[in-house]
Amino acid sequence: MKLSTIINPNEKRVAITPEVTAKYVKLGFEVELPKGAGESAGFSDSEYEAAGATISDGVIKDVSLYLCVRPVLSENMELSKGSYLIAMLSPFQNAEVLKKLHLNGINPCALEKIPRITRAQSMDILSSQANIAGYRAVIEAMSEYCRVIPLMMTAAGTIRPAKVLIIGAGVAGLQAIATAKRMGARVRAFDVRRAAKEQVESLGATFVDVDSDENGETVGGYAREMSEDYKKKQAEKLAEALKTSDIVISTAQIQGKPAPRLITKEMVDSMMPGSVIVDMATETGGNCEVSKKDEKIVVNGVTVIGYTDIAARVAYDSSQLFARNVFNFVSLMLKDNKIDTSDEIIQATMIK
Ligand code: NAI
Repeated sequence: MKLSTIINPNEKRVAITPEVTAKYVKLGFEVELPKGAGESAGFSDSEYEAAGATISDGVIKDVSLYLCVRPVLSENMELSKGSYLIAMLSPFQNAEVLKKLHLNGINPCALEKIPRITRAQSMDILSSQANIAGYRAVIEAMSEYCRVIPLMMTAAGTIRPAKVLIIGAGVAGLQAIATAKRMGARVRAFDVRRAAKEQVESLGATFVDVDSDENGETVGGYAREMSEDYKKKQAEKLAEALKTSDIVISTAQIQGKPAPRLITKEMVDSMMPGSVIVDMATETGGNCEVSKKDEKIVVNGVTVIGYTDIAARVAYDSSQLFARNVFNFVSLMLKDNKIDTSDEIIQATMIK
C-alpha cells in the first residue's frame, strides 16, 4: 500500500516527516512523495530518501492514503480512487466539497473529529497543535512588546516585570502560562471551569476569580456558555485586569459554538499604549471585538494579533507532533496489512 501527500503552498506544516517515514516503511507501506514535500517545515528530500521514501517529479499514482495537514480542497482533486484523505478538513465549513469527494470515490477523514477519549490521546492533533500554538503566541506577543519581560535590577535602575493575562486555561492557555512564566513575566489567568484554578496555580500563576458559584464545566470536561449574570461579573473583572496587563493571550472557546466575546473595544482602549493582545480564537469569531483574522492591527496604541497559523510558525516541531499523531491514527487503521476502518476512533472522523 502506498502513502503520499499533497503540497499546499499556504501551509508550512507537513503530515509526513522523515522520522515517521521510516516507521511507515517498517510497517510495510511504500512512501512516495512529491519533490520538496517537507521543505517548508525544514525536511529535505534526501532525509526522506534516507528514511526509505521515493521522491517523484510527476503525478503519483495508486495511492492508498494521502496524509496532509490542511490540503487545498476541491471536488476535482486528482486523487487515486478508493483512497483515504487524512487531514484537518474543517468538516463543517467544507461539508459540500467533502461530500462530493466521497461521491467521487475518495474517503475523507477529518482529524479534528477524533474523539477526545483516553485511547485517542496519542492521535489528538488539536491538542498537539494548540500546545505549540500557546507557546508561540507568547513569543509573537513578546516580540511585538517594546519593553522588557523579566524583572531587571541593574546599576542604572530597576525594570519591573511585564504583566501577562491569559484568558482560557485549556491546552493552549496552560502552555502560554508556562512559557510566560519561564520568561519571567507576572502571570494571571482566567477560566470559567473550576478545575482550571488548580492547574493555573500549579504553574505558578495567579487565578483571577469571578465572584460566582457557577461552574462552567460540562460533564465532558468542556466549557459551556455562562449565564448573563456571570457574564456581567466576568466583564467587570476582565475590564479591571486588562487595565493593568501588558500582554493578553486569549484562547477561550466553547466547543461547536462561536468563541465568546470577552474583550470589548472599550477594554482595549483602556489598556496602556504598547500593550499587545493575541486573540487565538479568530478562526471561530474571536474573543476580542476588534481583532481581525490573520492580521496584526494597532488600535489606540495597542497591537492586536489575530493570526490563525500560530502553530505553523514553528513548522518543524509542530510537524513532528502532527506526523506522530497521524502515524498513531494510521497504525490503528492497519489490520493484517489491510485498511480496516471499523474502530470507533476512525469511524468518528469519516465524512460520508
Ligand atoms: P481548549 O478547549 O483546551 O481551551 C479553551 C479554554 O477556554 C477552556 O479551558 C475553557 O474552559 C475556556 N473558556 C471557555 N469559555 C470561557 C470564558 N467565557 N472565559 C474564560 N475561559 C473560557 O482549547 P485549546 O485547544 O486550548 O484551544 C484554544 C483556542 O486556540 C481555540 O480557539 C483554538 O481554535 C485556538 N487555536 C488557535 C491557533 C492559532 O493559530 N490561532 C492554533 C491552535 C489553536
